[in-house]
Amino acid sequence: METVVSTNAVDRAVELLGHGEVVALPTETVYGLAADATNAQAVAKIFEAKERPFFDPLIVHLPSLDWLDRITQNRDPLVEKLVAKFWPGPLTLVLQKRDNVPDLVTSGLPTVAVRMSAHPVFREVCARFGKPLAAPSANRFGRISPTAAEHVLAELGGRIPLIVDGGATTHGVESTIIAVENGRIKILRAGPVTREELSEFGEAVFEKRGDAPNAPGQLESHYAPRTKLRIADCGLRIADFSCGRVGLLARDSSASLRFAQNDIGDDFFSAAEVLSERGDLRESAANLFSKMRALDEAGLDLIVAEPVPEVGLGVAIMDRLRKAAAKKMTND
Ligand code: TXA
Ligand code: MG
Repeated sequence: METVVSTNAVDRAVELLGHGEVVALPTETVYGLAADATNAQAVAKIFEAKERPFFDPLIVHLPSLDWLDRITQNRDPLVEKLVAKFWPGPLTLVLQKRDNVPDLVTSGLPTVAVRMSAHPVFREVCARFGKPLAAPSANRFGRISPTAAEHVLAELGGRIPLIVDGGATTHGVESTIIAVENGRIKILRAGPVTREELSEFGEAVFEKRGDAPNAPGQLESHYAPRTKLRIADCGLRIADFSCGRVGLLARDSSASLRFAQNDIGDDFFSAAEVLSERGDLRESAANLFSKMRALDEAGLDLIVAEPVPEVGLGVAIMDRLRKAAAKKMTND
């Protein structure tokens, strides 16, 4: 199948979706692979293109707010407040579903994950399509999420008919996923909407991995480059790195100074990428996946990633780095 990449393809995207096809679309977080959420056969094509296991449920993107009531029920009163504040935007809520949501979308769970994207292209396609779109990140299963159209092409080229190019995405990490119970907010996946922001609406806690059977997609290994990745501060001894060509994913422009303190010179690294020159966390998140991808393509034996401070968006960044560093569960 030929994959068309186009900046100006809203009409074609709506047409393909209407025919039960999948289309890659930009969102404000990462690129999504969209299909008609009400059409199980179309949704099956998402799993097929991504080689995604059926036990990993999808996020449903709503064309308008009235759809919230049409596909979910029994919502905690806090949900309406959160939605009023953060939608359209990078917040996904796991809510009790209605029968019209196909089981394939939710992997048979009684809940469905919903959000409304703020990206103008996604919003236009979804509004004109007039129905919710199921859309996971547009990468093959277990791989780094795409933050640019060319990343989607590298992941899914030849498998899908169309990629709508909306440039680089704003946030760079996937949406924050939450569940709300008795006025308490459980954060299932850290993302652009931070715990600090959510705390203004009620107690907000990170759900510990392991005791989260309601989040089957929260696998330990995810967002993984092919190259082995380790998180390491400059304090690590050079012996720990002695394994061929090493690349550095630096937190800011002072990385050289930090490593120099441990007698690790610039020439030690075969390649280096900086998340944000001035250590800005928003910029770091936006750059994370593209820099990781660049290092992954540099023919390295090991990527060493510096940790970032675990506050605000730093939580989401460290979550993605830890998942990238976790032992891989997939073969690719
Ligand atoms: O920013 C985003 O959220 C992007 C863009 C495209 O919207 N989408 C995205 O989708 O990251 P995906 O499929 O890569 O990640 C969705 C996560 C998975 O880990 C999945 O397990 C979880 O959401 N999820 C979906 N439905 C769920 C449910 N009913 N309960 C718990 N977790 C759920
Ligand atoms: Mg994903």
